[in-house]
Amino acid sequence: MKDLLHLQTFLLSLTLLQAAVSATKGQTTSPATITDTVSQVKVLINKAFLESRTRLKAAMTSEVPTPRQLAEYFKHAKGRARTAIRSGQVWEDSFKRLRQKDTLTNVTELSLDLTALYWEVGCGVPVPAAAGCDQNSPYRTITGDCNNRRNPALGAANRALVRWLPAEYEDGLSLPFGWTPGKTRNGFPLPLAREVSNQIAGYRNEEGVLDQNRSLLFMQWGQIVDHDLDFVPDTEMGSSEHSKEQCDEYCIQGGNCFPIMLPPNDPKLKTQGKCMPFFRAGFVCPTPPYQSLAREQINALNSFLDASLVYGTEPSLASQLRNLSSPLGLMAVNQEVWDHGLAFLPFERKKPSPCEVINTTARVPCFLAGDPRASEQILLATSHTLLLREHNRLARELKRLNPQWDGEKLYQEARKILGAFMQIITFRDYLPIVLGAEMQKWIPPYQGYNESVDPRVSNVFTFALRFGHLEVPSVFSLLDENYQPWGPEPDLPLHTLFFNTWRMVKDGGIDPLVRGLLAKKSKLMKQNKMMTGELRNKLFQPTQKIHGFDLAAINIQRCRDNGMPGYNSWRGFCDLSQPQTLAELGAVLRNKMLAEKFLDLYGTPDSIDIWIGATAEPLVERGRVGSLLACILGKQFQQIRDGDRFWWENPGVFTEKQRDSLQKMSFSRLVCDNTHITKVPLDPFQANSYPRGFVDCSDIDKLDLSPWASVEN
Ligand code: HEM
Ligand SMILES: *[C@@H]1O[C@H](CO)[C@@H](O)[C@H](O)[C@H]1NC(C)=O
Ligand SMILES: *[C@@H]1O[C@H](CO)[C@@H](O)[C@H](O)[C@H]1NC(C)=O
Ligand SMILES: *[C@@H]1O[C@H](CO)[C@@H](O)[C@H](O)[C@H]1NC(C)=O
Ligand SMILES: *[C@@H]1O[C@H](CO)[C@@H](O)[C@H](O)[C@H]1NC(C)=O
Ligand SMILES: *[C@@H]1O[C@H](CO)[C@@H](O)[C@H](O)[C@H]1NC(C)=O
Repeated sequence: MKDLLHLQTFLLSLTLLQAAVSATKGQTTSPATITDTVSQVKVLINKAFLESRTRLKAAMTSEVPTPRQLAEYFKHAKGRARTAIRSGQVWEDSFKRLRQKDTLTNVTELSLDLTALYWEVGCGVPVPAAAGCDQNSPYRTITGDCNNRRNPALGAANRALVRWLPAEYEDGLSLPFGWTPGKTRNGFPLPLAREVSNQIAGYRNEEGVLDQNRSLLFMQWGQIVDHDLDFVPDTEMGSSEHSKEQCDEYCIQGGNCFPIMLPPNDPKLKTQGKCMPFFRAGFVCPTPPYQSLAREQINALNSFLDASLVYGTEPSLASQLRNLSSPLGLMAVNQEVWDHGLAFLPFERKKPSPCEVINTTARVPCFLAGDPRASEQILLATSHTLLLREHNRLARELKRLNPQWDGEKLYQEARKILGAFMQIITFRDYLPIVLGAEMQKWIPPYQGYNESVDPRVSNVFTFALRFGHLEVPSVFSLLDENYQPWGPEPDLPLHTLFFNTWRMVKDGGIDPLVRGLLAKKSKLMKQNKMMTGELRNKLFQPTQKIHGFDLAAINIQRCRDNGMPGYNSWRGFCDLSQPQTLAELGAVLRNKMLAEKFLDLYGTPDSIDIWIGATAEPLVERGRVGSLLACILGKQFQQIRDGDRFWWENPGVFTEKQRDSLQKMSFSRLVCDNTHITKVPLDPFQANSYPRGFVDCSDIDKLDLSPWASVEN
């Protein structure tokens, strides 16, 4: 109540302030006005951020967490990302109050000192790294700064995602399309995100959905790559009038609350109220030169494929993850539980831990890893575990070869090798079977580092890579030594495995899960069977009692949140035809019925949200994405490779002998070296059914580390 009074006083003073601002119309806003506005906005926003954190803590210590609480935990910003997002919020709110016109069309016409605003808000933090770069360091920084010598911030963490096409917001600045009732896009009202999901993405029967030529690892590797490249946490601010909790409870749209409304006849209406809550993505301050002041979402990770999901992208986290109590260059491992003698990831000591509350008997916390999403589903946590063990294996081997190396040297050399592993598996094994016939076109053979290539992850890529959501099957399986069903519950519905760490720790460890990755199949994207109900109706539903979220609807709502241009703009960007009519769209999709559904919903193909439009396209030959996705993914991966000064093939990064050794690395060898599994497939990304395609570990090439032995030895 007291808070509410404060808020009202504050809002009143803001109104007065705005009156004062408009009185000065035509003149430049005075520095004092900027200072006052910013400091008042800061008070409000700091309070909202604090409240949101307190609430998250309180919620997670109570009984069973709701999907909203799990989602909030999953998308929670920490450290520098949180600071950058808070500044972005202060900048935008201050700007809205200071600008003199409602609609902003031309930045140069603005009579507001943007530089003053920038500094007043504190947008310069984190400071540009240029000054602090060690130009001769043989190793990457944790943050990704200093990779590009001309522009050290390129590809660094906690910066804006790059735009390949200008943002499209309803108001040109920050409001998503679909925000204002009655407002149209390209002349038609936008359909509800959940309506599109129901009409286009949903299906009932899981029969015949599996990919006959891709193992489950194919799905999983995509998510691993994604979690190495991008993470856009949510902002913590609800709106100026409502907390996130209120947005949640009453489905109030405003500020950063952008609830996913349920359409009439949605089965969830009966059980879940009017909406599924949704919070807008975190964004950063605009940076000079100001070509546009449109909202730009943050990437909390660095853009390089560098195994940052193992090591972190924040220096403080990176050192927390290391074992600094011994000079062996090791990553810290779990001190409480072991997997038949092998390491688990450390537990996240910070409470709340949603993993603990999903099973209050087992009380197993979430794992701590380089990426905060590690425990989101059990196969992801399993993959993190394999990578962590590999680091420690490499560090120990290197120590044996180079007893004189100190902990720092061992850590950096092992980290460098694991980074190369991520790059090799992704470009040699994964991308060719994603892009199929289009691999060569987008990712020609490596020609060396090019300083002019921009390595930054683009906003659209964070949607393109979500094609993997259509490859997730409804059930994950546990398998024994003979690749037969393991234990009393060998087949587990996916929704029981969100934030489920107890099945790893209290059940059979990671081996039964890894065997499932190798010997089970991914789901195949089909135009009439797009996303499994486990993700489309039960996302983050920890128990049967509570009803889950819809990942397809979230992806669509997120496209609008991020100001994504529509389907045809991206087709144009990729030099592909831009279908206008039903016949044309039907031809592109090679599916007239699907084209009809799209047009019924959107009115025009121009407005189709990029994620759903692009993933619905028929797959390219031998690939697992359509032409539009092949273009966006291909361009992005080519830039991530060619714009990375520490790319494993860039001369000088490794010696020629080391490169020859690295070529021998494989996912199957990773399994052989870091589990008790002895039989693995020769081609682990292809669907294999045991024993066909499987060989003994002794038949799999080993990584020969002798080229890393110092000359003195
Ligand atoms: C069981 C498996 C998976 C689950 C439960 C899952 C869940 C999620 C959730 C909840 C989000 C956040 C959505 C939002 O708020 O906008 C997300 C984002 C994302 N997912 Fe997945 N996902 C899974 C698998 C995959 C796979 C296989 C891929 C790729 C092949 C993938 C790629 C992505 C990408 C690129 C993002 C955007 C990340 C960002 O930049 O913030 N996911 N996923
Ligand atoms: C913005 O305004 C300036 C000055 O009024 C003008 O020179 C410029 O051409 C305008 N730019 C656009 C994109 O309209
Ligand atoms: C750190 O390494 C030492 C030596 O191998 C080991 O005894 C200790 O358990 C490790 N600590 C952690 C947290 O991993
Ligand atoms: C919780 O974990 C225990 C193992 O510690 C298991 O026996 C039990 O079935 C689990 N309960 C639920 C509800 O999953
Ligand atoms: C380097 O990249 C830039 C930008 O993509 C391109 O224009 C240039 O031709 C490239 N240089 C080489 C040598 O490939
Ligand atoms: C299965 O995929 C592999 C690539 O992983 C390819 O070489 C093979 O020809 C494919 N087999 C079939 C039957 O499509």
